[in-house]
Amino acid sequence: MTITIKDEQGIQGMRLAGRLASEVLDFLTPHVQAGVTTNALDKLAHDYITQVQQAIPAPLNYAPNGYNPYPKSICTSINHQVCHGIPNDKALKKGDIVNIDITVIKNGWHGDTSRMFVVGEGSIAAKRLCAMTYEAMWHGIVKVKPGARLGDIGHAIQLFAEGLGFSVVREFCGHGIGQVFHEEPQVLHYGKPGTLEELRAGMTFTIEPMINAGKKDIRETGDGWTIVTRDHSLSAQWEHTVLVTPTGYEVLTLSEGSPPLPAFVTSTSC
Ligand code: MF3
Ligand code: CO
Ligand code: CO
Repeated sequence: MTITIKDEQGIQGMRLAGRLASEVLDFLTPHVQAGVTTNALDKLAHDYITQVQQAIPAPLNYAPNGYNPYPKSICTSINHQVCHGIPNDKALKKGDIVNIDITVIKNGWHGDTSRMFVVGEGSIAAKRLCAMTYEAMWHGIVKVKPGARLGDIGHAIQLFAEGLGFSVVREFCGHGIGQVFHEEPQVLHYGKPGTLEELRAGMTFTIEPMINAGKKDIRETGDGWTIVTRDHSLSAQWEHTVLVTPTGYEVLTLSEGSPPLPAFVTSTSC
């Protein structure tokens, strides 16, 4: 395992990239409405990232091993889509839930974050899934400190989500991030306390649980990217990029428009 440890300069780079990624979501928020196409959101984000932020949308043409180059600048995953949904010309409609996942590269450093949006009213069940998935992510984040282990994070998320009757997607996980989009370690959203890699100050990784209202099983669709729930149940995801500090954690992907912290969380850093 070669997990990169960021020095002060790297941490500054990650702070800036993280804030910019979050600000793209702030910028998009008023546009996430019934009638807007995900392609329109993609163009808005692309132009904002490249022209206003002078940054690079990391997903565009991203081609990990075995994948075709990703064709858009953001990921938009709707309803039973779990992750990696590709923007298209279909309009959002009232009651949809949509995850928008943004990764920007600024001065060589990556910031990666996603939020859920409920279009229009939204059913009680849909709103609850989105809210509880946000809490699930934070249950993982608050475990982050030197000496803790990756299994502590996964366990906390799994315990909370399954306790509500939801399921945790197994095939996709959080990841180390820095000058590379996806680097070691893998950050599973399930597991056993006291297992896996020990956390050290200067590590940066994402926590990005995908939580299904129904069963945990997923499948890939024909486009080679979009992942959906096998049982077509709703799926939600939230993502933050986190730094391990000498005393705990610092969430890097925050901005003005970040949603309020759950009641059990006292601070965005400690
Ligand atoms: N942002 C996603 C993640 O959280 C990765 C998207 S890869 C893409 O790791 F190519 F689909 F954009
Ligand atoms: Co990520
Ligand atoms: Co992401």
